[in-house]
Amino acid sequence: MTYSFDFNDPAVIENPYPSYALLRERAPVFHSLDPDLWIVSRYDDVRTVIRDAERFSSAISAIGSDPFNPTMNPPTWLTRSLSGIPAVRVLLTSDPPDHTMLRHKVSRAFTPRRIAAWEPRIREVTAQLVDQMTTVRNPDLVRDLAAPLPAIIIAEMLGVPADRREDFKRWSDGLIDGLLTGGSRTAMIRSAIAISWYFYRAVRRRRRAPGDDMIGSLVTGTGAEALTTAEAVNFCILLLVAGHETTTNLIANTALALFDRPDIRDRLRAEPVAAAAAVTETLRFDGPAQALLRVTTAEVELGGATIPAGAYVLPLVGSANRDPSRFADPDEFRLDRPNTQDHLAFGAGIHYCIGNALARMEAVAAIEEIARRVPFMAPSGTPERIASPVLRGLRSLPITLRAPHTS
Ligand code: HEM
Repeated sequence: MTYSFDFNDPAVIENPYPSYALLRERAPVFHSLDPDLWIVSRYDDVRTVIRDAERFSSAISAIGSDPFNPTMNPPTWLTRSLSGIPAVRVLLTSDPPDHTMLRHKVSRAFTPRRIAAWEPRIREVTAQLVDQMTTVRNPDLVRDLAAPLPAIIIAEMLGVPADRREDFKRWSDGLIDGLLTGGSRTAMIRSAIAISWYFYRAVRRRRRAPGDDMIGSLVTGTGAEALTTAEAVNFCILLLVAGHETTTNLIANTALALFDRPDIRDRLRAEPVAAAAAVTETLRFDGPAQALLRVTTAEVELGGATIPAGAYVLPLVGSANRDPSRFADPDEFRLDRPNTQDHLAFGAGIHYCIGNALARMEAVAAIEEIARRVPFMAPSGTPERIASPVLRGLRSLPITLRAPHTS
């Protein structure tokens, strides 16, 4: 069947959901030639791919480069940026047994108790940011709240001192822009070197004087439990890349969904705790990570297609989450779905997002504090969308906090 699907078409980036529906209906496992990958769009098939680490490997760097960006392979490239440190495994792009060992080591820094302990601080920072946002002349929900909140929290978790926050923000912005949204490569390389060096020294310091922050908990285990210096540096960088912009986008996407739905907004004002349901439904309805990437280790039959060994596979979680065979009226945004939790926005299986509780806690705090503290909020001007088919979210979301005069 001839069927074309252009990921980078601005209309698809603006609203990919009609294209996903066509894919699910007409070509649920679609072989795209440029870039050369197999696009999987139905819920059951997407879940099969991301839960089957044996046939669908995450070790992308093992066979070649990122198919969207053939000149650069982020995991290998990041590893190499640590000059003098030999190539090391990265959690996100490793398979068992390496993945099992790494995940076990880093899980200690993400126990429910450790994450829950951050809630009061997350609430405090959120309240401050929301209050500040109400005082600026042209407020922007991304610039003033959705971007700084996860950045401040992850910097504090990693023990970055206040006087290095500006540097840290510049480096992580440069790195994330270059890796995920096509920003300047030179700026990305500079940022990656600076940030690798920064974490390298922080890890060395924590080894000499262990502390109770996240880096401390990563490197102070005994024997095989502790990460090596290179593993710890890589993990810190992964936390920045995986956890930063995704959370910003979850907050922005939730706000955007609520702008279009005054009934739900009114309900949140009356009942701010419903923010948790709104955030979960946004993960399903318009999640920050639209697609993941795998490579087949053998020939695989899936959804009526035969995928050869060594092929790139793109499970479209954004499409799975709108599959009517799983979610009734999937294009409706609802707070009372019985099975919203079945969404695949945080992945599934062994790579299931390690930061999911943190991301949810930050997004719920942001939406709840807006409902509590801001009497009126509406979009003002056009939001700027991130030009990426994989990362769904906004660069800016100008808002007005002044209710129009009613006569
Ligand atoms: C893994 C999404 C926030 C750290 C993943 C995966 C997804 C995801 C889909 C699985 C990737 C795969 O299977 O290939 C998201 C979304 C977030 C978010 C939508 C925000 C709304 C965070 C945060 C952190 C984080 C806040 C940490 C601070 C990680 C790490 C992995 C991961 C380390 C790799 C886990 C592994 O390979 O075992 N995330 N994430 N994420 N996420 Fe998140």
